[in-house]
Amino acid sequence: MDRIRIVGGNHLEGRIPISGAKNAALPLMIASLLTDDTLTLENVPHLADVEQLIRILGNHGVDYSVNGRRESQNEGYSRTINFTARNIVDTTAPYELVSKMRASFWVIGPLLARMGEAKVSLPGGCAIGTRPVDLFIEGLQALGADIDVDSGYILSKAKNRLRGNRYVFPKVSVGATHVLMMAATLARGETVLENAAREPEVVNLAECLIAMGAKIDGAGTSTITIEGVDALSGARHRVIPDRIETGTYAMAVAMAGGDVLLEGARADLLQGALDVLAQTGTEIIPVNSGIRVRRNGSGISPVDVTTEPFPGFPTDLQAQFMGLMTMAKGKSRITETIFENRFMHVQELARLGAHITLAGQTAIVEGVSKLKGAPVMATDLRASVSLVIAGLAAEGETVVNRVYHLDRGFERLEEKLSGCGATIERLSS
Ligand code: UD1
Repeated sequence: MDRIRIVGGNHLEGRIPISGAKNAALPLMIASLLTDDTLTLENVPHLADVEQLIRILGNHGVDYSVNGRRESQNEGYSRTINFTARNIVDTTAPYELVSKMRASFWVIGPLLARMGEAKVSLPGGCAIGTRPVDLFIEGLQALGADIDVDSGYILSKAKNRLRGNRYVFPKVSVGATHVLMMAATLARGETVLENAAREPEVVNLAECLIAMGAKIDGAGTSTITIEGVDALSGARHRVIPDRIETGTYAMAVAMAGGDVLLEGARADLLQGALDVLAQTGTEIIPVNSGIRVRRNGSGISPVDVTTEPFPGFPTDLQAQFMGLMTMAKGKSRITETIFENRFMHVQELARLGAHITLAGQTAIVEGVSKLKGAPVMATDLRASVSLVIAGLAAEGETVVNRVYHLDRGFERLEEKLSGCGATIERLSS
């Protein structure tokens, strides 16, 4: 298994190109199941999760081709990919494939809407809490689907098309919003989704569906209205820049110190997190080509945060922010409200010398003046990268084990950071 070796202490100076967002690319790729035409997606990041979803879609009969040569380095190596679901050959998404990545469960929406049936294994994914699928089931039932759960599979049917309806999410869910919005595009009549997720990835998906001929209003607000159509066509659509990658590198600069241009980043996609970073004493300067992040000399001020659905502070940046707070000048409280088991990075950060105590869903971080490198273990995608960030600021050598988690979500991480002066390398085994 590959490892990442970091020797901490260098300031970061230079540019980091921000890739296309993994969490936008995945639902967009799944939307290709809704039409027999070609959906062309630009700026698709080169990540293990994307490759895995290509395999899953291939199993349903989706052909894909990568357009031309790779884009310039400034684009962060993301690619343009054509997806064509001319013939859906299989409406089953098997356990062996779905268990590797939770988002692949989302094929249930388009398959059910277009084919009238889908058999999808209950999902796997990061080990961050129980992550049930009750909202998907309830929401699809509201659209008229018959659903049974049998031997680890969800069997869903809609013989005479799905029917538009009003559905109020009892809890905000990004995935269930994606799925119900996709399913409703081909339903009969109007669907109104209330308490819908407002994440930028939902907006990006809605814009793509609209380009494919869907009638959708209100994406980005908590009420989304969808008027079903008979069929969707192909389209060409661009994946938004990754706001989690942006926030992660911004926190790396805040922690290690330095001055870095995050090329292609969009401040409007993570304003909540950038505001928090500014309170820590980091300079955040939006410029035409992206966001410039700078921290020179001054110490890191402690800031309390609570994770929330968009536009609040994202749970996907919680681990990285905790990494930053381990070296703040004082005490901070970090409260996780989205997932119940997302503090696995705490004990690994402690191995580097961090002082963190847990009280239920809140971590109390007592800043220390220095961290010391050590071997650590990555436990999930965002936790892994928080260890990388901490390693960049720690004295001496940190080796992050089990980096396959990082490859799921961060394109060319070592290359991007070493390009800014970090001492970081991949040790293959
Ligand atoms: C997506 C993101 C993930 C991010 C999360 C929250 C992708 C591929 N993943 O995950 O990186 O951390 O949003 O911003 O986009 N829930 C239920 N029942 C359900 C569905 C969800 O109780 O049927 C709960 C979950 O357990 C969790 C909360 O709702 O506590 C939010 O989860 P959700 O927004 O659905 O996360 P994902 O879409 O899986």
